Amino acid sequence: MQATKPSADAYARRALARLIQPQPTVDAVGAGLTFYQLFTEDDAALRAEAEAGLLAPAASISPKFFYDALGSRLFEAITDLPEYYPTRTEAAIFSLHAAEIALRVGRGATLIDLGAGNCEKAARLFRTLAPSRYVAIDISAEFLRDTLRGLARQHPQLPMVGIGADLCAPLVLPDAVGDGRRVWFYPGSSLGNFTPEEAGAFLSRLHEASAPGDSVLIGIDLIKEAQRLEAAYDDPLGVTAAFNLNVLRNLNRLLGTNFDVRDWRHVALYRAEAHRVEMHLEARRDVTVRWGKHARAFAGGERMHTENSVKYDLPSLQTMFADAGFEDLHAWTDASGDFAVCHASVAR
Ligand code: TRP
Repeated sequence: MQATKPSADAYARRALARLIQPQPTVDAVGAGLTFYQLFTEDDAALRAEAEAGLLAPAASISPKFFYDALGSRLFEAITDLPEYYPTRTEAAIFSLHAAEIALRVGRGATLIDLGAGNCEKAARLFRTLAPSRYVAIDISAEFLRDTLRGLARQHPQLPMVGIGADLCAPLVLPDAVGDGRRVWFYPGSSLGNFTPEEAGAFLSRLHEASAPGDSVLIGIDLIKEAQRLEAAYDDPLGVTAAFNLNVLRNLNRLLGTNFDVRDWRHVALYRAEAHRVEMHLEARRDVTVRWGKHARAFAGGERMHTENSVKYDLPSLQTMFADAGFEDLHAWTDASGDFAVCHASVAR
């Protein structure tokens, strides 16, 4: 009698997840670009996570489900909105303080872009920072690969490594990343999408993955009036609403849920005590969502939490970076103090 064997597919995926040294799953794209797809979680684990969120007493959806290809494009559109000041304020800080930032960061490092998205923010720094290699990591792997193909053509001299991976999982970098001095680049206030405790833990993990002389370059949104914050996360055109609602379409595909987007409304509110904007999806009426043999009933007005965007002030950033082991923090802000770009190093 034969023991039940896992399917070849499941076996291959698990083997891949256990690999210490990841192999490129997409062959080298042109001379300068290598792409790795490194999901340590398989689809079953992702589905289990989504399911647990929906079945919890206070239902929630992890923000990692925002970024399918359409989600990535909707996020790009958010960054063009007049109400969404963070992206352009961050870009202004980078261009205003370019010389000083270059001096602190140093030229010729390996620039590791965490959650690269459309790679635009990093690409704008190529000239200032003159990296020796560009490593872009994002959960939206297909979107990243397409972006990098275009970028590699524009910068044929710059070696690039693309990695499709979930930043919430342990970071295993392929050998192709090299062992040059590293600058971990985490722009766009993504650090604020963790709770403060998780953000601290994330910084500690970066510190652990660093060698002496490596550093972090992080863009983070600062505390300000509720009105401007809420407008930034609830624009009149409804792009942010579409971005938030798109998570339901993604779950329909991933889990087989029967969410009807029209049953839900985007809600963004600033909780001043916790310094965070909360994003929710609120049921417009009583709805029951079904998938497989599961069902979850929502009463009209009931909310599912989808994302936080925590805002900081400079003293609390100082403490958080120091607690994670980083030294020599320097923060650049815009004239109105809306946003900060922080650089901190690992002691030599
Ligand atoms: N890092 C971005 C931020 O916190 C992410 C973001 C912008 C976002 N707009 C959003 C997340 C709307 C969810 C919904 O600003």
